[in-house]
Amino acid sequence: MNKFGMFIHWGIYAATGLHEQALARYDIPFEEYDKLVHTFNPTEFDPEEWVRIAKTAGMQYICFTAKHHDGFCMWDTKYTDYNVMNTPYGKDVLKMLSEACAKYGMRLSLYYSNPDWHHENSYNPQSTHQWRCRYPEKADLVKYREYVKNQLRELLTGYGKIYTLFWDIPPNILDESMNAYVRSLQPEILINDRGWDKGDFSTPERDVPNGERFTRMTEACQSVGEQAWGYRADEDYFSVRFLTQSIDKIMAMGGSYLLNVGPMPNGKIPERARHVLERVGDWYVRMGGVLEDHEPYPFVVKLQHTACIATVKKDKTYLHLYEGSISSSVNFEIAPAFPPKSARLVNDGRELGIRFGLLPGWGGAHGRANGPTLSLTNIPCDEFENEPLVIELEW
Ligand code: GLC
Repeated sequence: MNKFGMFIHWGIYAATGLHEQALARYDIPFEEYDKLVHTFNPTEFDPEEWVRIAKTAGMQYICFTAKHHDGFCMWDTKYTDYNVMNTPYGKDVLKMLSEACAKYGMRLSLYYSNPDWHHENSYNPQSTHQWRCRYPEKADLVKYREYVKNQLRELLTGYGKIYTLFWDIPPNILDESMNAYVRSLQPEILINDRGWDKGDFSTPERDVPNGERFTRMTEACQSVGEQAWGYRADEDYFSVRFLTQSIDKIMAMGGSYLLNVGPMPNGKIPERARHVLERVGDWYVRMGGVLEDHEPYPFVVKLQHTACIATVKKDKTYLHLYEGSISSSVNFEIAPAFPPKSARLVNDGRELGIRFGLLPGWGGAHGRANGPTLSLTNIPCDEFENEPLVIELEW
């Protein structure tokens, strides 16, 4: 699991323009919130456009919120009326999205929230995010789990192949039958760690963990905006530099990266979010796939003054300078036995210089240089301010 994906948070909450959890975070009365069902009419929803935006950014999968904490379902489910078929729009948006994904060869993943602020039996005092349960006194997790399973059966049998399942909010109850059921319906699916057991992969959220290589399958997630995952009119957007650096580091560590957008109530991805995706995507596409499906470099690489993670793909070594380079050269702290045959900057394909020799700054005792050091030179450290630099070495 070492891919770049688009997370999409979309539901009736988009119409609040506030947050995907607006119901709780802005304490909206249920009667008010439920009125959104009767206004949901995204006349400009064009799932193929979403898929094209993801594809242009170099993304290989889309993870869509089938049901968020509000309990509203974005597909034609038999198990509750609280679903998209009962809006003025009246169409199964998940079906439309799954068809667009199939058409463009885009993998589809599904997000499903365990907290459900609409279902009468869902209250789970062992878990978090239970803020707006309508009927805590009717808590019945046996019944609720049946509901979840019924819905998963719909989701995992009606929408083609599903790449990953993103459970949200761990129930803190161990029930291995849940993931076993999921796998019985989609044998190749990968399942995250926010469900009823530890699943297949970890999900650091809005976080770039320390370290050089994940020891477990990992999918990090982050949104283009700082405040919300769903559409927020007054969103604070991350810099392209911050996002590309995070993506490079996470993916160099062997993880996947889900970058989220929150489409507007009319179905369009906000202009600013599209712009961010275009710019991030421009860098990502120039990386030509070197961030995906690689192996760790088997030797220690430490560069003087410069953060670096090294990976290997098809016999080539890649140095990810995820914070860029502070000077026009990088110097290996431990020189390899021989220099590489060539060094190329993946960002724009240019050849870099290779120097294997004594450097005055590396003096040992008596002011003598310590032995040959490998340096890569002529790095355009001032030209790519908004993106990490990746160097390809051929030995
Ligand atoms: C958190 C939030 C939720 C969001 C998710 C994405 O769990 O509660 O709103 O969907 O993060 O990872």
